[in-house]
Amino acid sequence: MTASPALSSDTIRAHLRTRAIGATLSVQDEVDSTNHFLENLARAGAAHGTVVVAESQTAGRGRLGRPWVSPRGLNLYVSILLAQAQASPAITWIPLLAAVAVVETIKNVTSLPVQVKWPNDVLVSRNGRDRKLAGILVEAIGRGEAGERAAVAGIGINVNMPIEVFPHELRTSATSLLIETGHPVERVCLLATLLGEVEGLYDDLCEHGPDGIANAYRHRCGTLGKRVRVELVGGGRVEGTAEGLASDGALRLRSDEGKILEIRAGDVVHLR
Ligand code: BTN
Repeated sequence: MTASPALSSDTIRAHLRTRAIGATLSVQDEVDSTNHFLENLARAGAAHGTVVVAESQTAGRGRLGRPWVSPRGLNLYVSILLAQAQASPAITWIPLLAAVAVVETIKNVTSLPVQVKWPNDVLVSRNGRDRKLAGILVEAIGRGEAGERAAVAGIGINVNMPIEVFPHELRTSATSLLIETGHPVERVCLLATLLGEVEGLYDDLCEHGPDGIANAYRHRCGTLGKRVRVELVGGGRVEGTAEGLASDGALRLRSDEGKILEIRAGDVVHLR
């Protein structure tokens, strides 16, 4: 198995077309988690737009306390600090914004027909089965005495990971760009495109509020309109139809008993 060419700050900078996102860039060989690494930088005063990217993670974090498989040199593990001082947008839209950015990036770079499963699993369908290509973990942090809130948006994209590197239990539910396209994908180009998408969407969110993100998300979300089962955090499950988004990005679900529920955390399963 050959790793992709190593990520270097010079090559990444040469591809970046952003203003703030990635202006401060930290490229690491190995970290526990890029989110954790960036949270420490943020608490020490790192600027809005600071980006951490790593070749490998020893304790990559997934949603709902799960691990994120992070072998060396094959994938993208990136965290972005979104912390504009003025007009700080509703943090609850950041996970959905990041999902739109990842979908646009993968479509632009590979033309694969990817979709989001609420809130932010990025999936591609093959042989009638959805497989996960990318995941997003957004973590809020308080900074300074004013309690200023910032978000660390952590994004993992399975890029050049062959099937034999996935743990057995993920081999039918997860995939990579290599597996889906049949060829290796240049990680620096993917990263530069991703940071450009995040910057455009975040600027729009700060200037115009969440309507644009909500619309973009609705068009890319395969969950809305579907029958779903939601496995709730802390146990329990509910089945119904995913009807839309609430004003903070929560999933509005009409349960089979006819109740409208707003889901803010949980695992969605698309039912056929
Ligand atoms: C999920 O469970 O779907 C979210 C996975 C998020 C993984 C990324 S990899 C970069 C960043 N650092 C982490 O520790 N997690 C996120």
